[in-house]
Amino acid sequence: MRSLIDILDLSTEEIDSLIDTALDIIDNPEKYAHKCAGKKLATLFFEPSTRTRLSFEAAMYELGGHVLGFSDSGSSSASKGESVSDTVKVVSCYADIIAMRHPKEGAPLVASMKSDVPIINAGDGGHNHPTQTLADLLTIKREHGHFDGLTVGFCGDLKFGRTVHSLLGALSRYNNVRFVLISPPELTVPDYLKKELLDKKNLDYIETTDLEAAMPELDILYMTRVQRERFFNEQDYIRLKDSYILTPEKLENAKPDMRILHPLPRVNEISVAVDDDPRACYFKQVLNGKFVRMALILKLLEVD
Ligand code: NCD
Repeated sequence: MRSLIDILDLSTEEIDSLIDTALDIIDNPEKYAHKCAGKKLATLFFEPSTRTRLSFEAAMYELGGHVLGFSDSGSSSASKGESVSDTVKVVSCYADIIAMRHPKEGAPLVASMKSDVPIINAGDGGHNHPTQTLADLLTIKREHGHFDGLTVGFCGDLKFGRTVHSLLGALSRYNNVRFVLISPPELTVPDYLKKELLDKKNLDYIETTDLEAAMPELDILYMTRVQRERFFNEQDYIRLKDSYILTPEKLENAKPDMRILHPLPRVNEISVAVDDDPRACYFKQVLNGKFVRMALILKLLEVD
Protein backbone atom coordinates (compact mmCIF):
# COMPACT_ATOMS: atom_id res chain seq x y z
CA MET A 1 0.00 0.00 0.00
CA ARG A 2 1.38 3.41 -1.01
CA SER A 3 0.70 6.86 0.42
CA LEU A 4 1.75 10.19 -1.05
CA ILE A 5 3.33 12.41 1.59
CA ASP A 6 6.17 14.07 -0.30
CA ILE A 7 6.31 14.56 -4.07
CA LEU A 8 9.69 12.82 -4.01
CA ASP A 9 7.94 9.64 -2.82
CA LEU A 10 7.11 9.26 -6.51
CA SER A 11 9.79 8.44 -9.06
CA THR A 12 10.08 10.61 -12.16
CA GLU A 13 8.63 7.73 -14.18
CA GLU A 14 5.64 7.53 -11.84
CA ILE A 15 5.04 11.28 -12.13
CA ASP A 16 5.27 11.09 -15.91
CA SER A 17 2.82 8.20 -15.89
CA LEU A 18 0.35 10.11 -13.65
CA ILE A 19 0.54 12.99 -16.12
CA ASP A 20 -0.11 10.59 -19.00
CA THR A 21 -3.11 9.11 -17.19
CA ALA A 22 -4.45 12.61 -16.49
CA LEU A 23 -4.10 13.49 -20.18
CA ASP A 24 -5.98 10.32 -21.10
CA ILE A 25 -8.73 11.18 -18.59
CA ILE A 26 -9.06 14.61 -20.21
CA ASP A 27 -9.50 13.00 -23.63
CA ASN A 28 -11.64 10.03 -22.56
CA PRO A 29 -13.55 10.89 -19.38
CA GLU A 30 -16.22 8.23 -20.01
CA LYS A 31 -13.58 5.47 -19.79
CA TYR A 32 -12.97 6.44 -16.16
CA ALA A 33 -16.50 7.26 -15.03
CA HIS A 34 -17.01 4.04 -13.03
CA LYS A 35 -13.45 3.05 -12.15
CA CYS A 36 -13.95 3.72 -8.44
CA ALA A 37 -17.53 2.49 -8.11
CA GLY A 38 -18.08 1.35 -4.53
CA LYS A 39 -14.92 3.05 -3.24
CA LYS A 40 -14.88 5.85 -0.69
CA LEU A 41 -12.53 8.80 -0.28
CA ALA A 42 -12.39 10.59 3.08
CA THR A 43 -11.28 14.22 3.12
CA LEU A 44 -9.93 15.19 6.54
CA PHE A 45 -9.23 18.91 6.44
CA PHE A 46 -7.92 20.29 9.72
CA GLU A 47 -7.12 23.57 7.93
CA PRO A 48 -9.17 25.75 5.54
CA SER A 49 -9.34 24.86 1.86
CA THR A 50 -11.61 25.44 -1.08
CA ARG A 51 -9.84 24.12 -4.16
CA THR A 52 -7.94 21.18 -2.81
CA ARG A 53 -10.81 19.59 -0.91
CA LEU A 54 -13.41 20.20 -3.60
CA SER A 55 -10.93 19.06 -6.23
CA PHE A 56 -10.43 15.74 -4.44
CA GLU A 57 -14.16 15.36 -4.00
CA ALA A 58 -14.91 16.21 -7.64
CA ALA A 59 -12.15 13.81 -8.71
CA MET A 60 -13.65 10.93 -6.72
CA TYR A 61 -17.18 11.65 -7.97
CA GLU A 62 -15.95 11.68 -11.57
CA LEU A 63 -14.44 8.26 -10.97
CA GLY A 64 -17.83 7.02 -9.80
CA GLY A 65 -16.80 6.81 -6.13
CA HIS A 66 -18.18 8.32 -2.93
CA VAL A 67 -16.86 10.97 -0.57
CA LEU A 68 -17.11 11.59 3.17
CA GLY A 69 -15.20 13.80 5.57
CA PHE A 70 -14.95 17.12 7.35
CA SER A 71 -13.67 20.52 6.37
CA ASP A 72 -13.10 22.05 9.76
CA SER A 73 -11.19 20.59 12.68
CA GLY A 74 -13.65 22.30 15.04
CA SER A 75 -16.34 19.92 13.84
CA SER A 76 -14.17 16.81 14.26
CA SER A 77 -13.10 14.95 17.39
CA ALA A 78 -9.75 16.77 17.16
CA SER A 79 -11.58 19.47 19.11
CA LYS A 80 -12.09 16.91 21.91
CA GLY A 81 -8.38 16.16 21.95
CA GLU A 82 -8.23 13.10 19.70
CA SER A 83 -4.81 12.44 18.13
CA VAL A 84 -4.32 12.40 14.36
CA SER A 85 -3.27 8.75 14.64
CA ASP A 86 -6.52 7.75 16.31
CA THR A 87 -8.58 9.78 13.85
CA VAL A 88 -7.04 8.00 10.85
CA LYS A 89 -7.33 4.59 12.50
CA VAL A 90 -11.03 5.24 12.84
CA VAL A 91 -11.50 6.72 9.38
CA SER A 92 -9.62 3.78 7.81
CA CYS A 93 -12.59 1.68 8.93
CA TYR A 94 -14.93 3.78 6.78
CA ALA A 95 -12.91 4.82 3.74
CA ASP A 96 -10.59 3.26 1.13
CA ILE A 97 -8.33 6.29 0.83
CA ILE A 98 -7.80 9.49 2.82
CA ALA A 99 -6.79 13.00 1.73
CA MET A 100 -5.56 14.99 4.74
CA ARG A 101 -4.65 18.63 5.25
CA HIS A 102 -3.16 19.67 8.57
CA PRO A 103 -1.52 22.81 9.97
CA LYS A 104 1.29 20.76 11.55
CA GLU A 105 4.23 19.78 9.36
CA GLY A 106 4.54 16.00 9.31
CA ALA A 107 0.99 15.21 10.47
CA PRO A 108 0.07 13.31 7.26
CA LEU A 109 3.33 11.33 7.56
CA VAL A 110 2.44 10.29 11.10
CA ALA A 111 -1.05 9.44 9.88
CA SER A 112 0.35 7.25 7.09
CA MET A 113 2.27 5.19 9.65
CA LYS A 114 -0.94 4.33 11.47
CA SER A 115 -3.41 4.12 8.63
CA ASP A 116 -4.68 0.94 7.04
CA VAL A 117 -5.48 2.82 3.82
CA PRO A 118 -3.41 5.18 1.61
CA ILE A 119 -2.97 8.74 2.89
CA ILE A 120 -2.57 11.68 0.54
CA ASN A 121 -0.93 14.78 1.96
CA ALA A 122 -3.21 17.64 0.91
CA GLY A 123 -0.90 20.22 2.53
CA ASP A 124 0.98 20.07 5.84
CA GLY A 125 1.70 23.46 7.39
CA GLY A 126 4.43 25.40 5.60
CA HIS A 127 6.05 22.16 4.44
CA ASN A 128 4.74 20.29 1.40
CA HIS A 129 1.78 20.08 -0.96
CA PRO A 130 2.47 17.26 -3.43
CA THR A 131 -0.88 17.16 -5.20
CA GLN A 132 -0.70 20.87 -6.01
CA THR A 133 2.66 20.03 -7.56
CA LEU A 134 1.05 17.38 -9.74
CA ALA A 135 -1.45 20.02 -10.89
CA ASP A 136 1.41 22.45 -11.57
CA LEU A 137 3.37 19.83 -13.51
CA LEU A 138 0.39 18.84 -15.63
CA THR A 139 -0.17 22.53 -16.40
CA ILE A 140 3.46 23.08 -17.41
CA LYS A 141 3.37 19.92 -19.52
CA ARG A 142 0.20 21.02 -21.33
CA GLU A 143 1.48 24.56 -21.87
CA HIS A 144 5.15 24.01 -22.69
CA GLY A 145 5.20 20.31 -23.61
CA HIS A 146 8.32 19.58 -21.52
CA PHE A 147 10.20 20.37 -18.30
CA ASP A 148 13.82 20.14 -19.39
CA GLY A 149 15.59 23.42 -20.00
CA LEU A 150 12.92 25.70 -18.48
CA THR A 151 13.72 28.80 -16.44
CA VAL A 152 11.22 28.91 -13.62
CA GLY A 153 10.68 32.00 -11.49
CA PHE A 154 9.07 31.58 -8.06
CA CYS A 155 7.82 34.85 -6.62
CA GLY A 156 6.39 35.86 -3.24
CA ASP A 157 6.42 33.86 -0.04
CA LEU A 158 9.04 31.21 -0.72
CA LYS A 159 9.55 30.59 2.99
CA PHE A 160 6.11 29.42 4.02
CA GLY A 161 4.71 28.56 0.57
CA ARG A 162 4.47 24.78 0.68
CA THR A 163 3.51 24.55 -2.98
CA VAL A 164 6.85 26.17 -3.84
CA HIS A 165 8.78 23.64 -1.79
CA SER A 166 7.15 20.65 -3.44
CA LEU A 167 7.40 22.03 -6.98
CA LEU A 168 11.09 22.85 -6.50
CA GLY A 169 11.65 19.22 -5.49
CA ALA A 170 9.82 17.84 -8.49
CA LEU A 171 11.40 20.15 -11.07
CA SER A 172 14.88 19.55 -9.65
CA ARG A 173 14.71 16.09 -11.17
CA TYR A 174 14.56 17.32 -14.77
CA ASN A 175 17.52 18.43 -16.89
CA ASN A 176 18.85 21.97 -17.05
CA VAL A 177 15.98 23.55 -15.15
CA ARG A 178 17.00 26.98 -13.78
CA PHE A 179 15.34 28.58 -10.79
CA VAL A 180 14.99 32.30 -10.17
CA LEU A 181 13.85 32.74 -6.56
CA ILE A 182 12.22 36.15 -6.19
CA SER A 183 11.21 37.22 -2.68
CA PRO A 184 11.81 39.76 0.04
CA PRO A 185 14.88 38.77 2.10
CA GLU A 186 12.59 37.71 4.98
CA LEU A 187 10.71 35.20 2.80
CA THR A 188 13.46 33.30 0.99
CA VAL A 189 13.42 29.52 0.48
CA PRO A 190 14.17 27.82 3.84
CA ASP A 191 17.79 26.86 4.51
CA TYR A 192 16.99 23.16 4.76
CA LEU A 193 15.78 23.17 1.16
CA LYS A 194 18.79 25.12 -0.04
CA LYS A 195 21.15 22.68 1.67
CA GLU A 196 19.32 19.41 1.07
CA LEU A 197 18.02 20.09 -2.42
CA LEU A 198 19.38 23.09 -4.29
CA ASP A 199 23.00 22.93 -3.15
CA LYS A 200 23.22 19.18 -2.76
CA LYS A 201 22.04 18.59 -6.33
CA ASN A 202 24.13 21.51 -7.56
CA LEU A 203 21.10 23.12 -9.16
CA ASP A 204 21.28 26.34 -11.11
CA TYR A 205 19.49 29.00 -9.04
CA ILE A 206 19.69 32.64 -8.09
CA GLU A 207 17.95 34.59 -5.35
CA THR A 208 16.79 38.11 -6.06
CA THR A 209 14.28 40.69 -4.86
CA ASP A 210 13.74 42.13 -8.34
CA LEU A 211 10.81 40.63 -10.26
CA GLU A 212 10.99 43.03 -13.18
CA ALA A 213 14.68 42.40 -13.82
CA ALA A 214 14.08 38.64 -13.81
CA MET A 215 10.98 38.77 -16.04
CA PRO A 216 12.54 38.60 -19.56
CA GLU A 217 14.27 35.26 -18.98
CA LEU A 218 11.37 33.36 -17.41
CA ASP A 219 9.46 30.52 -19.10
CA ILE A 220 7.25 30.10 -16.02
CA LEU A 221 6.37 32.68 -13.40
CA TYR A 222 4.96 30.96 -10.31
CA MET A 223 3.32 33.65 -8.15
CA THR A 224 2.36 32.96 -4.54
CA ARG A 225 0.36 34.56 -1.77
CA VAL A 226 2.10 35.76 1.39
CA GLN A 227 0.99 33.09 3.87
CA ARG A 228 -0.61 35.20 6.56
CA GLU A 229 -1.57 32.25 8.77
CA ARG A 230 2.07 31.21 9.20
CA PHE A 231 3.30 34.58 10.51
CA PHE A 232 3.99 34.99 14.21
CA ASN A 233 3.40 38.67 14.00
CA GLU A 234 0.66 40.51 12.06
CA GLN A 235 2.88 43.59 11.63
CA ASP A 236 5.37 41.56 9.62
CA TYR A 237 2.59 40.25 7.41
CA ILE A 238 1.26 43.75 6.77
CA ARG A 239 4.75 44.99 5.90
CA LEU A 240 5.40 42.14 3.45
CA LYS A 241 2.02 41.31 1.97
CA ASP A 242 2.21 43.66 -1.01
CA SER A 243 5.86 43.03 -1.85
CA TYR A 244 4.91 41.90 -5.37
CA ILE A 245 1.85 42.77 -7.39
CA LEU A 246 1.86 41.47 -10.95
CA THR A 247 0.25 43.91 -13.40
CA PRO A 248 -0.02 43.98 -17.23
CA GLU A 249 2.70 46.67 -17.30
CA LYS A 250 5.14 44.40 -15.50
CA LEU A 251 4.53 41.73 -18.12
CA GLU A 252 5.63 43.95 -20.99
CA ASN A 253 9.12 42.47 -21.01
CA ALA A 254 8.02 38.88 -20.46
CA LYS A 255 8.41 36.23 -23.17
CA PRO A 256 5.30 35.80 -25.33
CA ASP A 257 5.14 32.13 -24.33
CA MET A 258 5.89 32.63 -20.63
CA ARG A 259 3.18 31.06 -18.48
CA ILE A 260 1.89 32.53 -15.21
CA LEU A 261 0.94 30.01 -12.54
CA HIS A 262 -0.48 30.54 -9.06
CA PRO A 263 -1.79 27.78 -6.77
CA LEU A 264 -4.60 30.14 -5.61
CA PRO A 265 -6.17 31.59 -3.53
CA ARG A 266 -4.96 34.94 -4.84
CA VAL A 267 -5.07 37.90 -2.50
CA ASN A 268 -3.71 40.81 -4.50
CA GLU A 269 -0.38 39.57 -5.83
CA ILE A 270 -1.84 39.29 -9.34
CA SER A 271 -3.98 42.14 -10.57
CA VAL A 272 -7.29 40.93 -12.07
CA ALA A 273 -6.31 42.80 -15.22
CA VAL A 274 -3.75 40.02 -15.82
CA ASP A 275 -6.51 37.37 -15.97
CA ASP A 276 -7.24 38.17 -19.63
CA ASP A 277 -3.62 37.79 -20.67
CA PRO A 278 -3.27 34.54 -22.65
CA ARG A 279 -0.23 33.71 -20.53
CA ALA A 280 -2.33 33.50 -17.34
CA CYS A 281 -2.84 29.83 -16.47
CA TYR A 282 -4.02 29.82 -12.87
CA PHE A 283 -7.59 28.89 -13.61
CA LYS A 284 -6.48 26.17 -16.02
CA GLN A 285 -4.31 24.88 -13.16
CA VAL A 286 -7.45 24.34 -11.05
CA LEU A 287 -8.99 22.10 -13.68
CA ASN A 288 -5.74 20.24 -14.23
CA GLY A 289 -5.62 19.61 -10.48
CA LYS A 290 -8.85 17.63 -10.63
CA PHE A 291 -7.66 15.43 -13.50
CA VAL A 292 -4.33 14.63 -11.95
CA ARG A 293 -5.96 13.86 -8.59
CA MET A 294 -8.18 11.39 -10.44
CA ALA A 295 -5.03 9.77 -11.81
CA LEU A 296 -3.48 9.69 -8.34
CA ILE A 297 -6.53 8.12 -6.69
CA LEU A 298 -6.52 5.39 -9.35
CA LYS A 299 -2.84 4.72 -8.77
CA LEU A 300 -3.01 4.58 -4.96
CA LEU A 301 -6.14 2.41 -5.04
CA GLU A 302 -4.36 0.20 -7.57
CA VAL A 303 -7.31 0.41 -9.94
CA ASP A 304 -6.39 -0.77 -13.42
C1 NCD B 1 -2.21 26.54 -1.58
C2 NCD B 1 -1.98 25.90 -0.22
O1 NCD B 1 -2.95 25.50 0.43
O2 NCD B 1 -0.83 25.77 0.13
N1 NCD B 1 -3.53 26.47 -1.98
C3 NCD B 1 -3.95 25.38 -2.66
O3 NCD B 1 -3.99 24.30 -2.15
N2 NCD B 1 -4.22 25.52 -3.96
C4 NCD B 1 -1.64 27.90 -1.68
C5 NCD B 1 -2.02 28.93 -0.67
O4 NCD B 1 -2.82 28.67 0.24
O5 NCD B 1 -1.51 30.03 -0.78
